[in-house]
Amino acid sequence: MENPATTPATPAPLIDVPDFEREAQTRLPHISWEYISGAAADEITLRWNRESYDRLRLMPRALVDVSRLDTRVTLLGRQHPLPILLAPTAYQRLTHPEGDLATARGAGAADVTMVASIFASNTIEEIAAVATRPLWLQLYIQRDRDFTCELVRRAETAGCEALVLTVDTPVLGPRNRELRSRFALPPGVDRANLRGMPNALGAHRSTEGAIFSALLDPSLTWKDIAWLRSITRLPVLLKGILNPDDAVRAVEAGVAGIIVSNHGARNLDTEPATIDALPAVAAKVAGRVPVLVDGGIRRGTDVLKALALGATAVLIGRPYLYGLAVDGAAGVTRVVNILRREFEMAMAVSGRPTIAAIDSSVIWR
Ligand code: FNR
Repeated sequence: MENPATTPATPAPLIDVPDFEREAQTRLPHISWEYISGAAADEITLRWNRESYDRLRLMPRALVDVSRLDTRVTLLGRQHPLPILLAPTAYQRLTHPEGDLATARGAGAADVTMVASIFASNTIEEIAAVATRPLWLQLYIQRDRDFTCELVRRAETAGCEALVLTVDTPVLGPRNRELRSRFALPPGVDRANLRGMPNALGAHRSTEGAIFSALLDPSLTWKDIAWLRSITRLPVLLKGILNPDDAVRAVEAGVAGIIVSNHGARNLDTEPATIDALPAVAAKVAGRVPVLVDGGIRRGTDVLKALALGATAVLIGRPYLYGLAVDGAAGVTRVVNILRREFEMAMAVSGRPTIAAIDSSVIWR
């Protein structure tokens, strides 16, 4: 008989997103970990993104028939089985050798939409070739507008269903953990979509003493939204809106959706948690376009809270990167399925069997 005292314990299974986070940290090289998990300056907004979800309390409703749960949402005219999308994240080959291709496969198996980053480590064509769910492309408008036009054309040809323009990054924020770890793209990781551009391989961040990046255009204004809309038939969403007045302006500018985001707290430290900014944006938008939110979502109850406060759907960033680090495409699927299961449990236990039943009464006042 084996002696239980001397038999090595089998490692505990990874049950939730924090488990994947801890496991990812043990597996990733230090610079990749610092790049993914880090945020701006003192990382106060990073903390708030979590704390604000934790502070919200839930109001259960008893004796509701929850034997059938319906998590479907309609977004830009298409039905999604789950109100969760994968947020755009750059340089996924830092996390796993198969990079964005693994994420696209994992998203397909989990039945969720991936938003590919302009700074993906695979081209949009390569990602589209393996994607089995709708694919969106996130853009930073480049100083070379002809290049942006060409990339938009490529996204259309590849079958992307929407463009997400990130508007919260005229310059990068102070990513101090990246700087301390001397972050630089290792060999084999590049900005695949930008190949052929003069700045395709340059440093993302400015050289010491300057704040501007060759890869970001700090002169963008609302006229550029009109321009982007004029060159594409695809719906354009703006990502990185926190200010309700900006949300109104975005709707007036004809955008198809708004993503309330603080870039995972990576840009402007001490701006509020996105879940705190969401209600005022949703109120001003008043259902004219979908409002999505990302930042700090780690639990199914967080998804429930975001929907209760006005979001049509949410995006996750770091959680699926942790899955990618641990188990490639399968890890991405596992993380989404954990959140799906937790979200379904939260719907059932709070007595809200459909998305339509999730309103502000879910929040304990
Ligand atoms: C990002 N994010 C991001 N956003 C974007 O518009 N373009 C990009 O290329 C990137 N790249 C990127 C890399 C990494 C490593 C992270 C963690 C984040 C922000 C991302 O889309 C999203 O807004 C946040 O990640 C959401 O917060 P959580 O879920 O990570 O807390």
